[in-house]
Order: sequence, then C-alpha cells, then structure tokens
Amino acid sequence: GRLALWGGRFKSGPSPELAVLSKSTQFDWRLADDDIAGSHAHARALGRVGLLSQQELESMESALDLLQARVDSGAFIPDEADEDEATALERGLIDIAGDELGGKLRAGRSRNDQIAALIRMWLRRQSRALASELVSLCRTLIDQAKAAGDTVMPGRTHMQHAQPILLAHQLIAHAWPLLRDLERLRDWDHRADASPYGSGALAGNTLGLDPAAVAKELGFSHVTENSIDGTASRDVVAEFAFIAAMIGVDLSRLSEEIIIWNTQEFAFVRLDDAYSTGSSIMPQKKNPDIAELARGKSGRLIGDLTGLLTTLKGLPTAYARDLQEDKEAVFDQVDTLLTVLPAFTGMVRTLTFDHERLEAEAPTGFALATDIAEWLVKQGVPFRHAHELSGACVQVAEQRGVELWDLSDEDFQRAFKDFLPAPLAPQVRQVLSTQGSVQARQGQGGTAPARVTEQIAQAEAQLTAL
Ligand code: ARG
Repeated sequence: GRLALWGGRFKSGPSPELAVLSKSTQFDWRLADDDIAGSHAHARALGRVGLLSQQELESMESALDLLQARVDSGAFIPDEADEDEATALERGLIDIAGDELGGKLRAGRSRNDQIAALIRMWLRRQSRALASELVSLCRTLIDQAKAAGDTVMPGRTHMQHAQPILLAHQLIAHAWPLLRDLERLRDWDHRADASPYGSGALAGNTLGLDPAAVAKELGFSHVTENSIDGTASRDVVAEFAFIAAMIGVDLSRLSEEIIIWNTQEFAFVRLDDAYSTGSSIMPQKKNPDIAELARGKSGRLIGDLTGLLTTLKGLPTAYARDLQEDKEAVFDQVDTLLTVLPAFTGMVRTLTFDHERLEAEAPTGFALATDIAEWLVKQGVPFRHAHELSGACVQVAEQRGVELWDLSDEDFQRAFKDFLPAPLAPQVRQVLSTQGSVQARQGQGGTAPARVTEQIAQAEAQLTAL
C-alpha cells in the first residue's frame, strides 16, 4: 500500500491525529516548482555517477516534465495522505514513471537537504519581486519630491514645530530607508546563494554526487560548506524575515505621517478617492485605510520574525521537525508585502499636497527661533547666550500672542542690549522668513533647496545603480 516516505520499519501508518499535525502540504505546496527543478538537477547528478543510465535519465526527466505540467494545470495536487510537498511529488512521479524508475530518484538526497535548498530558492525569487515593488515605491517618492518643488512645511521634532523644511526634504527622507532595504536584500542574497543540496540528512552522501553541479543548475554559485549547518541552520531565512519586518516598519513610519497629514487639523495632504475608503454610517468620511493597513500589518511582519527566531532558539544542531515552521512565517511576510506594496505605491503616487497651507504653517510656532540664535552667533554672540536671547524673544512673542516677526525694533533692541548695538538689533528680521531659513541650511544633507535637489539626484542614482 501507499505509505509515507518512511514506511519500512513501521507496522502501521500514522494515526489520523498525527497525520493532521504532521501534514504541511496546505502551505508547502508552493515549493513544488522548485522541488521539481531540484529533482531534474539531482537526476542529472545521479546520471553522472552512473546511478541512472542515459536511458533512465531521459525517462526520468520526461516524467518530471509531465509531472510539472500536471502540477501547473492542477491535474496533480497533494492528497490527504501526503505528509509534505516532497511526499506528494514522489507519489506523482511514481504514478508517471512507475515504481522501478520513480523509486530511484530519492537516492543520495533527504528531505532535509531538499527543503533547506527549496526555501532558499523560493525566497531568492520572491526577494526579486519584492525588490521590484520597492523600486517602484522609491521612484514614486522621488517623483513626489520633485513635484514638491521649493514648498516649505513645518519640520517637527517631538511632533512640535521645530524648524522650517522643504516638503521635498521630508518626502525624500522616506526613500533612504527603503533604499537601504533594497541594499539589504541584495546583500542577503550573497548569504542565501549557497545550496544545501547534497548534504543528505545531515552527514553528506556516499554516492559521489557532485553538489556543485546541482547548485549551479539551481542558480546557486556555492554549496554550503558544512552538511550539518546546511541542513540545520535557518539564519538565512531569519535574516530575510528581518528585512521583511524592517520594510514593514519603514512603510509604517510613512503611513503614520500620511495619516496625520490627512487629518482635518493638519490638512496637509489629500488622498485620491481610488486610494481611500468610506464609512458605512458616516457619509462624509474618507479614510486612509491603505496607510492604516500597512501600519497594522507591520505588526504581523514583526510577529513572523519573532515567531521564527523563537522557534530557532535552542534547537539541536541538525535537522529537527521544528524547522518545518520556518516556511509559514516567510510565506506570510511575502504575501503580505506583495499585497501591501502595490496599493501603498498607488496611494503615494496620487497624494496631493496643500502647498499654501504647508507654506503658511511652516514658520509658525516660533520655528524661526534657531535662525535668530544663529544670526546672533554670526554677530559674534556666543551660542549659549544667543540661545537665551532668542528664547527671550519667544517669551515676549508668546506672552503677546504674536509671532517672532511681529516684534518691534524696540523689542529686539531690548532683548539684545547686552550684546549688540541698538541699530544692529532690528536687522535680525533678515532671517525671519521661511525662505531665508531654509536657504541658510546649506550644509550637506540639509534642507536648502540646492541640497535637497542634490539628495534627490543621489537617491535616483542609487536606485539606478541597484
Ligand atoms: N517537511 C519538512 C520540512 O518542511 C521536511 C521533511 C523532513 N522530515 C523528516 N522526517 N526529516 O522541514
């Protein structure tokens, strides 16, 4: 009768409760294509050492092609008794090639080295899909930053008005973490680029198979150096899970910004109708659901990472079944991000900013106080005192309920009297404009329009170089 891949020494098949617990086809079936690709490469390795004749190899490869076609069409799917995708595919192969030939393919490989190779193959392919979505989002942020021109907005620290900044500066600030995520994915691929195929269950194989040739056929440039490590480690999976969680956190930070800017109180930005949702009871509502879902789903992306790391902690160093738990974590992350990113990019692409309102709010809340202090420094006042003198101006303005530029000549003369001659004091007004303030921030990476244009060009160059 048809049993598990390990029936020989057992008197009975698995109990129904065990079978239900053990079964992974409901999630690992998505590795079927990679498994069949691995089987082709493995068959050729068996052929090279004479464990499959030329004739057998040809029949094996056509049987695998037919199996792939059946998988593609849905004609072949796992059944209730299949423990995992590997079990199902061996059954499918034997259906086509017969016991005699189909039963030869398993020589010299174990599901342990197989599954460790498959998860890497799958993740490497998905990481390219993820990278291309991230590239689109970065391009969109760059386009929005360019479209923002020289519009000035309130820059905040602790959510309080701090210093005026360019809208473009704030927007492009969100491109850099994403560019680093792209870099992380590329860098991760160096470590993922090693094939565990040939490690066997843990100790390597006795059949003289060439793992380097198998690796090459599966798109790997290296073979894992140690067969125990190759089958037992999942740090490469966990590192991918970290990058996915980090992308989630980076999206969540931008989401939070958009949600706040979109409130009635801020009213800095409007969401396009096609990228916002309504309320079933309040007809006036237009909600930023994409940003909220992205922010919310960052929680599950972090959870996937945390769950995986917790599973890996304290495992003995060779295959244990716990390792089967690596897959759902990263499958969920990839599914989540590949669903969130296209919608997120569409939302960002269609944001429209209220430039007038941003400009009007930019200097309020005494956001030019630093400019007063730095102007005083340029007149030779030590910064410690300049900070205090500017603070005194803020105090006067606040008491009167006016902004800094509403203070009179006498106010400035009084405030600066210990340090500056009276005629000089009112000249501080030169820096009491938003444009003057941003223009002055010419340091590299700063908010001066020329510096921001530079940053946008750098982000673009980095994106093109990837
Ligand atoms: N399905 C398992 C996994 O995903 C691989 C099978 C290993 N089973 C075993 N008895 N060694 O990790």
